[in-house]
Amino acid sequence: MSSRTALITGASRGLGFAFATHLAHTGWRLVIDARTASDLSVAAQTLQDLADGPVIGIDGDVTDPEHTKALVVAAENLGDLKLLVNNASTLGPSPLPSLAEYPLAALAHVHDVNVVAPLRLIQLALPALRRTHGTILNVTSDAAVEAYEGWGGYGSSKAALEQLSNVLAQEEPEVRVLWVDPGDMNTRMHQEAFPGEDISDRPLPEERITGLAALVDSDASSGRYTVSDLLADARRGAA
Ligand SMILES: NC(=O)c1ccc[n+]([C@@H]2O[C@H](COP(=O)([O-])OP(=O)(O)OC[C@H]3O[C@@H](n4cnc5c(N)ncnc54)[C@H](OP(=O)(O)O)[C@@H]3O)[C@@H](O)[C@H]2O)c1
Repeated sequence: MSSRTALITGASRGLGFAFATHLAHTGWRLVIDARTASDLSVAAQTLQDLADGPVIGIDGDVTDPEHTKALVVAAENLGDLKLLVNNASTLGPSPLPSLAEYPLAALAHVHDVNVVAPLRLIQLALPALRRTHGTILNVTSDAAVEAYEGWGGYGSSKAALEQLSNVLAQEEPEVRVLWVDPGDMNTRMHQEAFPGEDISDRPLPEERITGLAALVDSDASSGRYTVSDLLADARRGAA
């Protein structure tokens, strides 16, 4: 287990940091990113203090091709790249605009961050992931499949990420492709979706990790999963 490497985007806070913490605890070598260098540096040091293996933080934007190349090169240099987690994401404008009012440049940016950038990383990492029979985990949302007013920009990008994952799973039999809805969480992104509202009743991202971790460690096949179902399965298994 200690020889495995994971590349996880958007790991300076929220779900990405919580999942990276679990991976660091369980022997994975890590490459992580975020745009804000100071936050990433604190996160990487915290993870390094927990980890046996190296934790490499590279600050940058997932939409920058040079940055994504640097992430994959760093992961390949650590060796045995077994897991790519496309977690970094943008909600788009807040408050959430209706589609009638949606600024099209903002929509293009949302799709660039949430769809094009994950595929670019997948393309760069695929040769290594095919060799290791590794896993791609794309973090999606119920907004990909439900019609919530105001969520048309973000939701359409997550729907595109889901179908991209679906087709990729057919095209790449050597690689496992998981696309996972983590459920609502008390994070900065969720607060942006509900500006000024008290979101403290939502679970912390740490509470969703058991489900994600069980999925990654299992031999479950490629497909769409929700953390709520995974946690319910885990509870049934424990009972
Ligand atoms: N929170 C929810 O209720 C919820 C529900 C369903 C799905 N999700 C999904 O869960 C995932 C994690 O969301 P979260 O709620 O944990 O968000 P979050 O707390 O806002 O964290 C987002 C992370 O991604 C980084 N990031 C954002 N844009 C980036 C970019 N362009 N390039 C590189 N890094 C970037 C952020 O750091 P910087 O800002 O410094 O870049 C941060 O580390 C996302 O895919 C989201 O769509 C969340």
